[in-house]
Amino acid sequence: MKKAMVGVVMGSQSDWDVMQHAARQLADFGVSYEARALSAHRTPALLAEWIADLERGGVRCFIAGAGGAAHLAGVVAAQTQLPVLGVPMPSKHLQGLDSLLSIVQMPKGIPVATFAIGEAGAANAGLFAVAMLALQDRALAKKLKAFRAKQSKAVQAVKLPALK
Ligand code: RP5
Repeated sequence: MKKAMVGVVMGSQSDWDVMQHAARQLADFGVSYEARALSAHRTPALLAEWIADLERGGVRCFIAGAGGAAHLAGVVAAQTQLPVLGVPMPSKHLQGLDSLLSIVQMPKGIPVATFAIGEAGAANAGLFAVAMLALQDRALAKKLKAFRAKQSKAVQAVKLPALK
């Protein structure tokens, strides 16, 4: 099996609905990844083992999605020097604001790059990982350029409806 270039981790299986949008972007660009549900508070030792295992395999960055008191991305960042991209999950009571603040407010010294709450954030974290990998991969950079051009064309082709 191809070694993972990106580790995608989420605190719970319930995060997969959102986090699959990160995996989708990676898959569409042909970037190898390994996705796991591992929790900073429910499976801390297993999380540490997984991070070390992927690092040994040459992983380049991690995407971590979590909700509520979302410390997963910070805990991942505490254990690796590789870039960690955090994705706040929408939550039941605070609509993901709790997750966003937990992830974005990392104390100075151990950074986590934080993305938007939910699906857009997960997809953008995937695209950001692609952009980082594209710095050293010309073919990937070309694909990313084409992906952006397609979006530009779609906007340019928009015909707004006539006034009612
Ligand atoms: C966090 O708590 C997870 O990342 C998830 O977003 C949230 C709820 O988890 P479950 O109770 O659905 O397992 O750890």
